[in-house]
Amino acid sequence: MSSTKLVCIALVSLVFGQVYLVASEETIAVCPTNFTQVADKCLLVDGSWKNFYEADRHCRSLNAGLLSISNPTEFNVINEWLPIVAPYQPEFWTSGNKLGGTSDYYWQSTGEKALYLPWQTGQPTPTTGDCLILLANVNMTAEGTTLSEHRLSVRNCTKWVPHVCEAPLQIFKTQLCLNTTAFFEAKVPA
Ligand SMILES: *[C@@H]1O[C@H](CO)[C@@H](O)[C@H](O)[C@H]1NC(C)=O
Ligand SMILES: *[C@@H]1O[C@H](CO)[C@@H](O)[C@H](O)[C@H]1NC(C)=O
Ligand SMILES: *[C@@H]1O[C@H](CO)[C@@H](O)[C@H](O)[C@H]1NC(C)=O
Ligand SMILES: *[C@@H]1O[C@H](CO)[C@@H](O)[C@H](O)[C@H]1NC(C)=O
Repeated sequence: MSSTKLVCIALVSLVFGQVYLVASEETIAVCPTNFTQVADKCLLVDGSWKNFYEADRHCRSLNAGLLSISNPTEFNVINEWLPIVAPYQPEFWTSGNKLGGTSDYYWQSTGEKALYLPWQTGQPTPTTGDCLILLANVNMTAEGTTLSEHRLSVRNCTKWVPHVCEAPLQIFKTQLCLNTTAFFEAKVPA
């Protein structure tokens, strides 16, 4: 990518000769490999069973963090996506926690205090743990198994649960760089 960028910059510097940088410019949003764009961020579900700390480390190894939830709009989109990508999986770690003796919940991945907390029925139960999962209630009947909406629930951080990682959308400007005989396409940071 950086070599393409250099071509573009080199062309700009030649504008006073016969060479032009004429470009159409377009902004595109890209997710890291294996992440999917959901709402305004990139998500990845990992079905392996890890405790909160291991799950957090796994996300960090991908330049990501555990899931945070910032508002109802985002929450609804995530909740529609989860059963598609991980059907029948009722539990996922989020980055929400009150570790370190705080009484408020924080999103570890963003450092923000959790202001929007869509609790599952009967929650929160602060004495049962310090970390937050998304939990769907499982309804097993003769007709089959259905899951309710995933909502926040308190869980002991040492329990093994699958997790969701989040990474920011990477925004690029796609520039079409033109010299007298050829076109180049370059991605540069927006
Ligand atoms: C993406 O997922 C595949 C299959 O699980 C894995 O082999 C590959 O290493 C992953 N790529 C990255 C960049 O994590
Ligand atoms: C979490 O579980 C561990 C191991 O069972 C236990 O020692 C600890 O007290 C529990 N923490 C909470 C907050 O319940
Ligand atoms: C479970 O599913 C059955 C059949 O679909 C339904 O009648 C019942 O209301 C459901 N129970 C709960 C707690 O959602
Ligand atoms: C324009 O780009 C083409 C293709 O890379 C290159 O061969 C040519 O030398 C360039 N022309 C000028 C005037 O820079």
